[in-house]
Amino acid sequence: MAGRFITFEGGEGCGKTTQIKLLAEYLQKKNVDVVLTKEPGGTPIGQELRKMLCTGDKDKFDAVAEALLYYADRRVHMQQKVLPALNKGEWVISDRFADSTMAYQYYGYNKRLSKEMLNNLYEMTVGNFYPDLTIILDIDPKVGLQRSIARNNQTQANETRHESRETEFHENLRRGFLEIAKTADRYVVLNADVSIEDLHKQIVAVIEKRLF
Ligand code: TMP
Repeated sequence: MAGRFITFEGGEGCGKTTQIKLLAEYLQKKNVDVVLTKEPGGTPIGQELRKMLCTGDKDKFDAVAEALLYYADRRVHMQQKVLPALNKGEWVISDRFADSTMAYQYYGYNKRLSKEMLNNLYEMTVGNFYPDLTIILDIDPKVGLQRSIARNNQTQANETRHESRETEFHENLRRGFLEIAKTADRYVVLNADVSIEDLHKQIVAVIEKRLF
């Protein structure tokens, strides 16, 4: 079977990472070759960029500089990991992709840069290529941020740059994802404020319906 590209999107603490792991286990049981990856940080160069982007002061870059760095990560990720895996017929599941740039750097920052700039960057770095399916996990930012702060405390992660932004930023980006979801058929929005098991079942149902 041909490779498939599935992306997961959503605000902080929406549960993407847990759901991606469960989905990978499900697909592996069906003998699908699965590659799990993420943005930023799906490659060694991406890991360096991730450190720059996700730690430190929230105001150390503006939206334009951030968008360029996320797209640099994406370019390397596409070339070194995503496309080679798809060409081998593997299914690639990415924890975030370009919709995150539109949601965070455009909607989150309340449209301080132009949508055209982001669309041009997409065309330049990714080209005429899109995920087969994008699952957006929708959650009230108050609930999501609490989850993600608890996780950071547990793992002692210091990736708090975006989490430390004001509530308005998170409300904007949630609305942004919902707007983005209206623009193409590849998007499916699921309410993430349910149990891990329930959400997994819903994701499996979507995958079975759309990709098998
Ligand atoms: P993660 O914690 O879900 O792995 O995502 C890393 C952070 O980077 C998260 O706060 C969202 C942010 N981000 C953007 O702002 N723009 C992007 O294009 C991507 C891929 C992530």
